[in-house]
Amino acid sequence: MKGLPELSDIEQAHQHKLIQVIQNQITQAGGKIPFSEFMAACLYTPGLGYYSAGAVKMGRGGDFVTAPEISTLFGQTLAEYYATLKAQNFASEPLSIIELGAGTGKLAGDILTHLDSLGRLPTHYYILDISADLKHQQQLYLKNKLPHYFDQITWLNSLENIPHFNGNGLLIANEVIDALPVELFSLKFNDKNKVDIFQHWISNHPSLPNTFEQIILPADTAFEDCIKSIVKLDDFVFDAPEYVSEMNLNILPWLSGIEKMLVKGQLIFIDYGYGTQEYYHAARHMGTLLCYHKHLVHSDFLLNIGLQDITAYVNFTQVAMAAKTLDLTIDNYTTQAEFLLSQNLGPLAEKKLALAALSENSAAEHITITNEMHKLTAPHEMGELFKVLILQKGEFESIPSGRPHFHRL
Ligand SMILES: C[S@@+](CC[C@H](N)C(=O)[O-])C[C@H]1O[C@@H](n2cnc3c(N)ncnc32)[C@H](O)[C@@H]1O
Repeated sequence: MKGLPELSDIEQAHQHKLIQVIQNQITQAGGKIPFSEFMAACLYTPGLGYYSAGAVKMGRGGDFVTAPEISTLFGQTLAEYYATLKAQNFASEPLSIIELGAGTGKLAGDILTHLDSLGRLPTHYYILDISADLKHQQQLYLKNKLPHYFDQITWLNSLENIPHFNGNGLLIANEVIDALPVELFSLKFNDKNKVDIFQHWISNHPSLPNTFEQIILPADTAFEDCIKSIVKLDDFVFDAPEYVSEMNLNILPWLSGIEKMLVKGQLIFIDYGYGTQEYYHAARHMGTLLCYHKHLVHSDFLLNIGLQDITAYVNFTQVAMAAKTLDLTIDNYTTQAEFLLSQNLGPLAEKKLALAALSENSAAEHITITNEMHKLTAPHEMGELFKVLILQKGEFESIPSGRPHFHRL
């Protein structure tokens, strides 16, 4: 694709290996796999997938930047949330933190360092990450950052039978749901002016070696029912010749696995996304699926196999609907800006600015901190696009976490 950087020889060799693995998978499946399986293979094939191989992904030298990589203030606000939740509802019992998809370990490091400074470290901090490579990076980072606490951090392989866990937890997942595999589908009006649903599949290109192609076929009834359960097709109108979008068909079993592990506690999901009405808006006829490669964004998922992130926006209504069928209640749905500001972002930033004023590079540090605040909270940066969904299990008093936007769910 024009404008994307050329791959190095090493990158090409890496890509080639993963292409072979996925092409075999397609052959074994009879010639085609659903888009979600292709996305999962590109991202998570052990040792070769984008998240499972050694390249730098997050941060300035990688492909994209997440909130914890932008600023320590992000983790500090989550630590403040934990401290209030613990003091208010779990004063006499342990409350563990469970982090899903911990990336480089930066968020865990910032949360724990801030809780340490408050004298409020949890008895346990658990991490579950699907990527063995990132798990290794997290371990190196956290051993160095928090040597005195490191033994209390446990890496999990699943959320079942968590060692030393009493069932009370605050689960945190920042930018994890957007990394879960989705299905691609398209809608077209037929000659009776009704909408037909198509499913997107990936097959091996019939004539070009080491290349994939996308094939679009009428959806079967089970797939159609999934789409119709979320997108109200009867009143759906769009102008484009076709409407392409995506849907995660595994949200319910995934959330159910999380819910089962908890006796009492909360789940905080932070991600870019919308409620159903905004997500499946007529104007968004090209969907929300994006690929990130060296800070360039494009939509060609058949390129740079294993070397680029593939991600889709989160439909928070779908997560909330799944929660309602489980033993979970919706505590809040708000924007990232409002959540962070409700958790003392202002005073924390002022403290950081005051410390920066004492340093030799005070002017430069002042600009850096103001930029961090701007990125995290400005409406056209992460402030409005990123949402915070807080789910709760068990009855206890909720703590203020920003103005609710339930009407947008
Ligand atoms: C976009 S990164 C975000 C990393 C980090 N939370 C941050 O904010 O910088 C997505 C993370 O989720 C992990 N991940 C993806 N699917 C997962 C799953 N099913 N369970 C646990 N972790 C998962 C990836 O390996 C990666 O660490």
